[in-house]
Amino acid sequence: MIKFILNNTEVSTDQHPGTAVLDFIRYRQNLTGTKIGCREGDCGACTVLVGELTNGDIRYRSMTSCLMPLANANGKHIVTVEGINGDGLNPVQQAMYDESATQCGFCTPGFVMSMVGFSLQHEITNAPKEAVDSVDGNICRCTGYKSIQRAATRVGELVSTRKSDPVAFAIEQKFVPEYFASIPSRLKALSDNLSAVKNIEVADYRVGGGTDLYVQKHEAMSHAKLDFFFDNPAMKGIRIEGNRCILGASTTVTDLVESKEFRKLFPDFEIYYKLVSSTPIRNMATIAGNIVNASPIGDFTAFFLALNASVLLTDDKSSREIELRKFYLGYKKLDKRPEEYIKTISFEIPSKHTRFNFEKVSKRTNLDIASVNTAIRLDITEGIISNAGVSAGGIGPIPTYLFKASEYLNGKKVSLELLPELISIVQSEIAPISDARGTEEYKRLLLSQLLKAHFLVLFPELDEAKILTI
Ligand SMILES: Cc1cc2nc3c(=O)[nH]c(=O)nc-3n(C[C@H](O)[C@H](O)[C@H](O)COP(=O)(O)OP(=O)(O)OC[C@H]3O[C@@H](n4cnc5c(N)ncnc54)[C@H](O)[C@@H]3O)c2cc1C
Ligand code: FES
Ligand code: FES
Repeated sequence: MIKFILNNTEVSTDQHPGTAVLDFIRYRQNLTGTKIGCREGDCGACTVLVGELTNGDIRYRSMTSCLMPLANANGKHIVTVEGINGDGLNPVQQAMYDESATQCGFCTPGFVMSMVGFSLQHEITNAPKEAVDSVDGNICRCTGYKSIQRAATRVGELVSTRKSDPVAFAIEQKFVPEYFASIPSRLKALSDNLSAVKNIEVADYRVGGGTDLYVQKHEAMSHAKLDFFFDNPAMKGIRIEGNRCILGASTTVTDLVESKEFRKLFPDFEIYYKLVSSTPIRNMATIAGNIVNASPIGDFTAFFLALNASVLLTDDKSSREIELRKFYLGYKKLDKRPEEYIKTISFEIPSKHTRFNFEKVSKRTNLDIASVNTAIRLDITEGIISNAGVSAGGIGPIPTYLFKASEYLNGKKVSLELLPELISIVQSEIAPISDARGTEEYKRLLLSQLLKAHFLVLFPELDEAKILTI
């Protein structure tokens, strides 16, 4: 039995745990304010908030309910647009109305939920800008966005006056109704008689956040045999052990963003993660899901390949560790037996001598997969590269660790002269194909340009003009 609080009501259901939350709330609960647009995580019309207790503290995150299995709602607070209505319009709805930010209205509940989610967000530094960023997963066909941007900025200005706890402030300012104050204690009571959702012994699919599976196998998910990893405590958490950083397989992109330990290792992480999907997808997407999906353009796959990360595989009886760079055998073919799954991902902590960079080019800034991506890690002592790792995606059938390029850089003195040879080696090592994301020539050119971008970012001491003319 799956149990959760839906708006202000506790719900128990024996519906198939793979049912999309969107279908449950619309067709079983008749809450039709949540809209169905693309069913692919792209439009944001189905956005709901998901509240979860962590160490007694409640956190709300926006998620696309079309990609979320009911099992991942177990023990949580699911909020639809009906659940935020109190007396009159709340400050988000009022700002949308005042700024004429709604026309046909189909997208409006999704935008409103994303902004209410922002008002409940814990860490806030530049609220007006971050409020606009919070709707990066919502698409509108009518307004042209400027009016929505103005509405979001107004919401951000109000949130920037916050001095108290996020939920208390959101209640005080009528972003959410008063019943939100009772949710932490109700979730705590619920957690005491909650059972983990396991659909079966031998799964057709193992589900993390569902952001790949529900796009690719939408029809199958509501009746397949499923095993759910997203809330498995053994697969959560980010920890440092000795000189390694270890991520639970179900660590989400947002978990990385919110981890002080992880952010300390990658000071420019904010630049990288903003290039990946959108806020609601980052709230759901797990790192193991990105790795096992084996998309040749997976962003975090490229990121962890350059770090020469390893994955710990287990079948619950025995375990083995394998380097990520040896994990991909061919297009969507992995060195993994069907009964094995990833338990953790680990990598050596970058030292003070390490320089790291990630680059991605896609057609749109948000909600788009890469045409080409690449990451580089260089350990440099007294101007000499002692250990290099270079990866790239979109340039062949698998996410690629560039063995020859990495080997070439080892032992070399950092200089401008490395770049032409590096580009030439990389060009001999890749095999892009022409497809919807660009021709072979374009992708080759892109990767060469991105290698120059790595040098521009990592070596500001080198002559920028000369790098650009190589
Ligand atoms: C709108 C949208 C935008 C996106 N943008 C990007 C983007 O910019 N960059 C990018 O890289 N990706 C993007 N993605 C793809 C997706 O979000 C990522 O690949 C994500 O990391 C997948 O994780 P998940 O937990 O949601 O995977 P799921 O869908 O749950 O699973 C994906 C695969 O991994 C397997 N799996 C999951 N966990 C484990 C485990 N522990 N062990 C073994 N197998 C496991 C599943 O069985 C399945 O085969 C986007 C997706 C959407 C819908
Ligand atoms: S229906 Fe479009 S994101 Fe869910
Ligand atoms: S108002 Fe029509 S899609 Fe946004």
